Amino acid sequence: MGTVVLGTGSCLPERILTNVELESIVDTDDEWIRTRTGIESRRIGGKGEQTYQLSANAARQALERAGVAAEELGLIVVGTISSHMLMPSSACFVQKELGAKNAFAYDLNAACSGFLYGLDLADKYIRADHNMKVLIIGAETLSSRLNWQDRNTCILFGDGAGAAVFGYAEGPRGIIGSKLLSDGSLWELLYMHAPQSLNPDLTVPGNTGAFIQMEGKEVFKYAVRAMEESVRDLLSREHVKIEDVSLVIPHQANIRILNKLIDRLNVPQSKVFINVAKYGNTSAASIPIALDEANSSGLIAEGDTVLFCSFGGGLTWGASLIKW
Ligand code: UT7
Repeated sequence: MGTVVLGTGSCLPERILTNVELESIVDTDDEWIRTRTGIESRRIGGKGEQTYQLSANAARQALERAGVAAEELGLIVVGTISSHMLMPSSACFVQKELGAKNAFAYDLNAACSGFLYGLDLADKYIRADHNMKVLIIGAETLSSRLNWQDRNTCILFGDGAGAAVFGYAEGPRGIIGSKLLSDGSLWELLYMHAPQSLNPDLTVPGNTGAFIQMEGKEVFKYAVRAMEESVRDLLSREHVKIEDVSLVIPHQANIRILNKLIDRLNVPQSKVFINVAKYGNTSAASIPIALDEANSSGLIAEGDTVLFCSFGGGLTWGASLIKW
């Protein structure tokens, strides 16, 4: 098959923000957040914890575990919607931090689906060039992109980064395939404006600031349906039965979304990795953080079939399968 994960890593900011602390910031309560989302706390970036810095820490861990030197990397991609600068990309800053002087680097904007879109890129590049080593990161500091007076959004999101190093291996292991989709016509359900235009002719009506805005209820419905469909399509295309999947690592947005997905796919809860309680929704970082936690706690063995699925702003969504 070919494209294998050589190593994973993750990095979470030190500061933990609990639901109870949020009660003094916005009109909400611990009970509501727990029952409606499953979230108990989230991490909030501080000094030295910009998106690219969390990314570089996660990447160093992944490279070390992979036994790959930074100079061996041919490509670095960071899935993110919360870089500290618009240009250069976070990926270029990561390259500088790592000293990955033989790589080219760029960011990918697919919101919460950023890591899966990146995983598919890694697969395509590595299939074309078996010597290539690719570093895919999902990283966010969404605490810097939230309206802290909007209880519909600020209680949901958190900061963090996860990384995986991909390379080529002979044999049956590797990425089986991905089913990725987007629907730009639904952009208004979940979006974030850019900074205000300095050209009066290019101002965007309704741009009240560069922070996340969301129609939560609608997103919820689409999330369940779209993830279920992409998983079913992918499994059927690749002739894999859901019973043969060893572990599902879904995007961690809301425990109620995950429970509905578990019901609809008819997969045992014990086969689904869930950490939304600790970190909230870390957007592009959620899947690689979960992957690293599952991997480093020994939940994935060689030969296992691991299924990923994601959903986010764009709208973007999809599913991927790996034979570990
Ligand atoms: O990464 C992918 C992108 N995002 C998502 O996947 C999020 C998808 N959506 C969701 O997770 C859920 O829709 C939310 C958690 C955002 C909201 O849950 P909900 O069950 O859809 O609640 P709701 O928006 O219908 O609000 C129910 C009530 C409302 O009060 P009234 O109108 O019934 O009096 C809200 O004003 O809960 C109120 N409410 C809150 N109360 C306390 C909304 N947010 C809060 C809050 N604390 N933080």
